[in-house]
Amino acid sequence: MRLIFLGPPGAGKGTMAKKLSKSRGLLHLSTGDLLRANIKEKTALGKEAVSFVENGKLVPDQLVIEMMRHRLREQDARKGFILDGFPRTTEQAKALDGLLGEENMKLDHAVNFDASDGKIIERLSGRRICGKCGAIYHLKNIPPKQPGICDQCGGSLVQRKDDNEETVRRRLEVYREETAPLIEYYERQNLLRTVPGELDVHELEPIVKKILA
Ligand code: AP5
Repeated sequence: MRLIFLGPPGAGKGTMAKKLSKSRGLLHLSTGDLLRANIKEKTALGKEAVSFVENGKLVPDQLVIEMMRHRLREQDARKGFILDGFPRTTEQAKALDGLLGEENMKLDHAVNFDASDGKIIERLSGRRICGKCGAIYHLKNIPPKQPGICDQCGGSLVQRKDDNEETVRRRLEVYREETAPLIEYYERQNLLRTVPGELDVHELEPIVKKILA
């Protein structure tokens, strides 16, 4: 199965993608995670991407498309995947169509996580991630068993640099201008499945699973 997870920042794409990739054996490819790993390792791509990511702007299409072109050609992508945060512009969506065509692959669904600005700000201000394994928590909604410590690997929980209110507002503007038009793009291809991203995880999970059944 090949899926795209669309939606504004903080709508819950990463949280659901991690759950489904485990239960369905799908590869979870988050462009945000890949870019942050490059930034941490100070690769050439990381050095080009850092100011965009930290300021809530989109990394130029050409860089992201090249990164995904290489990643999707790796053997583990053959078992199926969830693309979380890619594509994010019409140019990226067209490039993805071309890439999949070259590999004789088709998308099954574009799942669109719908959430209001108020909910997004509440979610992102409370988000903490594990600096070691990337597990996602929320101080109130999905807290770790021990404050500040990852349940899965014991790593320390940190706040993402782009989760401050000013940058979140910029990310929302960028989402509306650049990414929201993809809703129509995938609707036209009859691939769009919109889900209520504001629901709690245990309520949302069966809704998403029903779409994939
Ligand atoms: P990226 O990392 O993709 O960030 P994003 O799209 O802004 O999405 P988030 O990771 O913030 O949110 P999410 O929807 O995954 O929510 P989560 O599950 O964590 O991108 C970061 C940056 O990288 C971009 O700004 C850009 O610079 C660059 N970039 C990335 N892709 C790019 C591309 N294709 N092109 C160009 N640039 C690109 O949940 C949020 C919080 O809510 C958590 O605390 C979680 O615990 C909680 N939560 C989640 N679901 C629920 C629920 N159902 N109920 C209660 N709480 C929940």
